[in-house]
Amino acid sequence: MALLKILKYPDPRLRIKAKRVTKIDSALRRVVADMYETMYDSQGVGLAATQVDVHWRLFTMDLSEAHDQPICIVNPEIVHLEGEQFESEGCLSVIDAWDKVKRAAKVILRGMDLESNPLEMEAEGLMAACFQHEIDHLDGILFVDHLSRLKRERIDKKIEKNNRQA
Ligand code: NI
Repeated sequence: MALLKILKYPDPRLRIKAKRVTKIDSALRRVVADMYETMYDSQGVGLAATQVDVHWRLFTMDLSEAHDQPICIVNPEIVHLEGEQFESEGCLSVIDAWDKVKRAAKVILRGMDLESNPLEMEAEGLMAACFQHEIDHLDGILFVDHLSRLKRERIDKKIEKNNRQA
């Protein structure tokens, strides 16, 4: 396994719309294993393939503290949205920025596991928000896109400044 490089906003590759996975082979499984390692190493709860410059529709996630509940969804689709929540989010691709994002409170997600078995999951709260956040990534959307222009500009300025100093 290997740690992958996580693309950082405003890298334009984060805007690429990922393609549907048509074949799950050993190369793709290796990418997923590396994504888990990268996600755990960065203390993230979710990682979309887009973030590691792999433009296939899949993401990894683990919301447990013990890192023992790995979830990988291939070709995820939200088929039902319900209610509303407004909670703070961050992203491994957006350094040092957290802000509240309006999301559906409850979702039903459909997709496949790594063995190509169809799956359906019902989620609410944090997990529902994460599903929406990761699927956004696969469509080239970042959580900062959901913020007001003012907040977005504040984050952009901070990142520009950090990049200048780096
Ligand atoms: Ni993210």
